[in-house]
Amino acid sequence: MKTSYPKDKIKVVLLEGVHATGVQLLKGDGFTVKAGAKALEGAELIAAAKDAHVLGIRSKTQLTKEVLEAAPQLLAVGCFCIGTNQVDLARACGLGVPVFNSPFTNTRSVAELTVSEVIALSRRLFEKSTQLHAGNWDKSAAGAREVRGKTIGIVGYGHIGSQVSVLAESLGMRVLYYDIVPKQPLGNARAARSLDELLGASDVVTLHVPETASTKGMMGASQIRKMKAGAMLINNARGTVVQIAALVAALKDGRLSGAALDVFPEEPTGRGESFKSEVCGLANVILTPHIGGSTEEAQEAIAEDVAAKLSKFINNGSTTGAVNVPEVELPEQGERASADGKGGGRHHRILHFHRNVPGVLSKMHAAIAGLGVNIVAEHLQTRGDVGYVVLDVEPTEGKKVLERLRGVPETIRVRMLW
Ligand SMILES: NC(=O)c1ccc[n+]([C@@H]2O[C@H](COP(=O)([O-])OP(=O)(O)OC[C@H]3O[C@@H](n4cnc5c(N)ncnc54)[C@H](O)[C@@H]3O)[C@@H](O)[C@H]2O)c1
Repeated sequence: MKTSYPKDKIKVVLLEGVHATGVQLLKGDGFTVKAGAKALEGAELIAAAKDAHVLGIRSKTQLTKEVLEAAPQLLAVGCFCIGTNQVDLARACGLGVPVFNSPFTNTRSVAELTVSEVIALSRRLFEKSTQLHAGNWDKSAAGAREVRGKTIGIVGYGHIGSQVSVLAESLGMRVLYYDIVPKQPLGNARAARSLDELLGASDVVTLHVPETASTKGMMGASQIRKMKAGAMLINNARGTVVQIAALVAALKDGRLSGAALDVFPEEPTGRGESFKSEVCGLANVILTPHIGGSTEEAQEAIAEDVAAKLSKFINNGSTTGAVNVPEVELPEQGERASADGKGGGRHHRILHFHRNVPGVLSKMHAAIAGLGVNIVAEHLQTRGDVGYVVLDVEPTEGKKVLERLRGVPETIRVRMLW
């Protein structure tokens, strides 16, 4: 695609070993990409960010106010991961810099882990395997069950919960789910009228809710008591959703026959750190170090997703999927009709981030009207203190238009594609 200046002048700096697919996609789009394996900090990070148009990071690099302010050319940030806590989102928004991430591309990985745990817990696989590693041939069918015909209770029927539903049903399980938002059942799944109904009817309960005020500690002693005797609990959602002491008590006294936990109220921050919890050492409890979404496929899908969002923003201005600025999904730039029917060139597109106060649009219109610019389409979205307006105009003198718009006092950042 033709852009207002050569695409190879767009400098993309990728840190923390972003998956090769992301690097290739951005290079393939014509950008100049510099990819490094490490997370950077301090002066090194500022030096890398200084002339970057796009910064791509994962979870370790901290894009603080100071770093963002030291990157005057920065157009966008890509977080090649799920979370965006490592970026000062408010400051990025204030600078007119959209931040993109990929919240749902690891859905399938979490769903598969969950289903594997349903079977592994039902067959007491880890316990048997641990025994055998220790040299004990404990051949017995006691407490080992098929999952076919059993009921799985899914709490939170969103991206992950609904995929677990499909996979569990294909194993011959009955699916019951509970969500605070009405959700259409997939296949033969059935919505429970309440969490209590689900807890009382399920052989295995799996949690797929976000961390919110309503989910914090939502599985405590009284909820666990409502579960069927000998049922199992899986938490691959967020550590604070389950009250660990209550779970441990239920596992120790045999009311629950097993559990799988991928997330914990307190988790080590880095690989190789030690981990201690009351659940360690209990029989038929599968513990994993928050790896629900950590697969090669998910890493690749994340890279593809974030690279596509960055390219789209740079090439056409769309901010769909941005976590900190108004989201605007834009069509391709249209062509101007010409009298001889041969086309009169692509419309120019003005991308304008501004402080969201009354009167900005009229100031913008007035600023460019003096240049005789004809607006053919206008898109506007606001989010808190910031507005994003996109004007498609008939081919015009880009530099003058930019100059005038920069003169509008509320302008945060303006860019033009032609
Ligand atoms: N273990 C991992 O590595 C890993 C990876 C990805 C996601 N997650 C976690 O999995 C969880 C689910 O992710 P998702 O992508 O399916 O999210 P989602 O937003 O698509 O779905 C969450 C669902 O939970 C429902 N919900 C919210 N509060 C509820 C409540 N009090 N009771 C019942 N339902 C409620 C919502 O309405 C929504 O349908 C999140 O906590 C996410 O952070 C963990």
